[in-house]
Amino acid sequence: MRVPRVFSGMQPTSDSLHLGNYLGALRQWVAVQEDHDAFYCVVDLHAITVEVDPRVLRERTRRTAAQYLAAGVDPARSVVFVQSHAPEHAQLAWVLGCLTGFGEASRMTQFKDKSARGGAERSSVGLFTYPVLQAADILLYDADLVPVGEDQRQHLELTRDLAQRFNSRFGRTFVVPQAYILGGTAKIMDLQEPTAKMSKSAASPAGLVDLLDDPKVVAKRIRSAVTDTERDIRFDPEAKPGVSNLLGILAAFTGTTPQAAAEGYAGRGYGDLKADVADAVLAELQPFQERFTALLADPAELDRLLAAGAARAREVSAATLARVHDRVGF
Ligand code: ADP
Ligand code: NA
Repeated sequence: MRVPRVFSGMQPTSDSLHLGNYLGALRQWVAVQEDHDAFYCVVDLHAITVEVDPRVLRERTRRTAAQYLAAGVDPARSVVFVQSHAPEHAQLAWVLGCLTGFGEASRMTQFKDKSARGGAERSSVGLFTYPVLQAADILLYDADLVPVGEDQRQHLELTRDLAQRFNSRFGRTFVVPQAYILGGTAKIMDLQEPTAKMSKSAASPAGLVDLLDDPKVVAKRIRSAVTDTERDIRFDPEAKPGVSNLLGILAAFTGTTPQAAAEGYAGRGYGDLKADVADAVLAELQPFQERFTALLADPAELDRLLAAGAARAREVSAATLARVHDRVGF
């Protein structure tokens, strides 16, 4: 039996990933690569669905790839590559787009949410067909499993529908992927508004811990996290979202549960908890930042790694696309 294959990716839409990306995705990717055949992609085609400066995009693509590697994604074990280096993504997206109903695409809630901000009329067609490109990303690699957060479930359903539709119309071609719900994945909340998830689109940067922030800034952000007017430290996300978020972060970094992390704080204050959270976060972020800096300091080596990743990705994606083209009559 072949080792189960996993595909995942992130958009190069910021200079630094944040703590939510790290604990909810990157660290999981590193664990997953141990016993899966993993493909980790920087999805730059997705990043141009909104307007972006070319120089900024190019820089963020490299920085995002370097952060995958700095977190411990091992290019000897996993395929790390940039989406635009494999033209098959755009090519398969066209074929899948022709199998997607306009009404079906119109029901994607993420497009509705994102276009609601700027107005659907002014959104790009690329933003509208984004989930079709995402389906192509996954199906090109015959991925069995796709790590997804709750917000991506609807897109994965579309991917599965498109795979099944293609298979029934043209004969078995695609693996129908399944959602991979990662055990122990913490949902990290905004430090200033702990009922909302930590996100790069947060209203204020004060609620975020960016992985590449200066350690002093990281410590300050954690120290300034919103808590509540009680004094007791217990895990209760409903009644105590701020404190529970801090416990969740501490637990994720110390390999325990938030409930267990809460023990030992009897008679101690929120200041003690915050100091411990900052120490735990920085113990992991500082070596991460050193690895990141070393990777960016050697651009030729990073280019070489990404070119090798793209070559390995294309061995799979080109074969899949050839199969698809043959099936549809090209
Ligand atoms: P953002 O919300 O900052 O735009 P993305 O949607 O680009 O982040 O998410 C990239 C990856 O990071 C996804 O796998 C997503 O599930 C994960 N992720 C993002 N924010 C969080 C969070 N606050 N907690 C846990 N995981 C998160
Ligand atoms: Na998201």
